[in-house]
Amino acid sequence: MRRYLDQKNEERKTAVPFSGVKKRIGVLGLAEGRTLLVGLDRTVRCEAAAGCDLDARRIDDAKKERPQLFYTTRYGEMLERDDIDIVAIYTPDQMHGDHIVKAFEAGKDVICTKPLVNSVEDAKRILAASQRSGKKLLVGQSTRFFESFRRQRAAYENGHLGSLELVDAHYTHRMDWFYEKSPWAATETDWIFLGLSHPVDLVRWYLGPIEEVEAYGSTSELGRRYGLQGFDIYIVNLRARDGRIARAMGHYGLKEMFSVRNCIELFLCGSKNTSMAQYHDMKYNYTLDDGTEVCEDPLYELRHYHFNSEIHGMHYGEFANYSDYFAEALTNGTRYSPGIEEGVETFCVMEAIRRSAKTRTPVAVTPLLAEAGL
Ligand SMILES: NC(=O)c1ccc[n+]([C@@H]2O[C@H](COP(=O)([O-])OP(=O)(O)OC[C@H]3O[C@@H](n4cnc5c(N)ncnc54)[C@H](O)[C@@H]3O)[C@@H](O)[C@H]2O)c1
Repeated sequence: MRRYLDQKNEERKTAVPFSGVKKRIGVLGLAEGRTLLVGLDRTVRCEAAAGCDLDARRIDDAKKERPQLFYTTRYGEMLERDDIDIVAIYTPDQMHGDHIVKAFEAGKDVICTKPLVNSVEDAKRILAASQRSGKKLLVGQSTRFFESFRRQRAAYENGHLGSLELVDAHYTHRMDWFYEKSPWAATETDWIFLGLSHPVDLVRWYLGPIEEVEAYGSTSELGRRYGLQGFDIYIVNLRARDGRIARAMGHYGLKEMFSVRNCIELFLCGSKNTSMAQYHDMKYNYTLDDGTEVCEDPLYELRHYHFNSEIHGMHYGEFANYSDYFAEALTNGTRYSPGIEEGVETFCVMEAIRRSAKTRTPVAVTPLLAEAGL
């Protein structure tokens, strides 16, 4: 732990100040999108330029915190502006396809929150629009950009785990508050896209292309109470193209037990070592070669960056991290992930899960890739 923090502090001290041109971001949808608008105060390579929401009250709230920005209730007006390089989309799941196509057609690069899309039709449309426009897109898979998951990934890439043999990921969260503020969650999407997109992306990130899924779904009492159309409890087995296996789990009507189980956990079993990253806690746990267990817990050290002091559980830090990461890739032409093709592939895995849970049979992912235009 100490060694890692010393190294981080050294990096901070020796970092060269950024002297390039910052990418300017216009945010669409100012509920969760407000987190980005505020979080952009900690980025280096990009900055907030504008905010757009149909609801004037959302704009008033954002203006109180960031009065200097341009605001509008009309998306078209934000897209017309020459001083915006990247449009960041935080509208309801079922609108992402349309909003991405419009941004590409206006010549903007795009950050789109998860899930990238929630229908095969939209997957095809955004791929075609990206090819026509040549513009780039990053899927805002926030969990990948949280400190504990970044440390876990760095150790994995450095070979600490040996070869990865099993992935176990979950995202569980009681969602009555979400149905109250966003009734579209019950009828216009599915918890596979809305919630399970986190563990499914993590599995895809580590295991590469997924060949087949087998899923079970059921509906909680809470889901039934809010008129949920699909399932809100899922258990999924996944098999990667190279034969490795994983499990993803989601429950969106449970009574949580924060003291023993974090909302999101990623458990990796390698031939040499095992590790687990957690969210909302910022713990990164792992074994050493001799079997000793280590827990890195930088929550209080990094709390000011990831959360706005008291709010443990928001996304300020992750959203800032992925915006800077994408801005750097756009400026330097470097590779980045997950881009649009990986995002559509992960959508296909989620769609396969939806079909598998509905039909109660295993579903192959490859035919779906062709259906989506990959
Ligand atoms: N971890 C994460 O990255 C994370 C967390 C929460 C939500 N999300 C995603 O963010 C998206 C938004 O979720 P939310 O909780 O903010 O939903 P929400 O229903 O609270 O807010 C959506 C906002 O979009 C606005 N909007 C809708 N259509 C618009 C249009 N045409 N033009 C301008 N504004 C429009 C609405 O007025 C509303 O303010 C969803 O796709 C959700 O899955 C991601």
